[in-house]
Amino acid sequence: MMRTNTILCVALLFAGAAFAHSGVKNAAVKARMDAMSGIGAEMKILGQMAKGVTVFDQTAARAAAAGIAKHAAGTPVLFEADEDDPKSEAKAEIWTNFDDFVKKSQNLEGIAAGLSTTIASEADLGIAMKSLGASCHACHKAYRE
Ligand code: HEC
Repeated sequence: MMRTNTILCVALLFAGAAFAHSGVKNAAVKARMDAMSGIGAEMKILGQMAKGVTVFDQTAARAAAAGIAKHAAGTPVLFEADEDDPKSEAKAEIWTNFDDFVKKSQNLEGIAAGLSTTIASEADLGIAMKSLGASCHACHKAYRE
């Protein structure tokens, strides 16, 4: 039950993201949105394996986790400048609490990097999704509209 709920929550994270970039005029904002979409796509790979939609593949799962870690490592730089766009969902608090924002990126990076060397079975994916999802949520709750 817990596993189903977690997967559902994570699926909701992606809802509406597909078309969100059309009409973004600020290139800096588009770059950070693209990076977040990349994280979203990697989460989707893990989520589909966790649900059994795709067959478990250790190499692909670890690569997706490594991709999330890489994007997370690049997140602070992409958000460093206080850039805005009418399409952006970033909250102004990012730039008043930037140290905390960086900490939340590093939290995701650490979890994803760990998973990129430890995921070994389909059963690991439920736990992986839960810890990654909690990390996404912690930052989105504070810094995304
Ligand atoms: C350190 C903070 C932080 C973390 C961690 C984080 N995000 Fe985000 N995310 C944001 C912010 C801020 C935005 C809004 C950016 C904007 O619109 O300018 C965003 C936007 C998004 C978007 C929408 C992108 C678009 O098309 O506009 C998706 C999808 C997304 N995040 C997925 C994830 C997933 C999945 C995770 C976890 C694996 C995650 N994020 C972790 C801060 C974070």
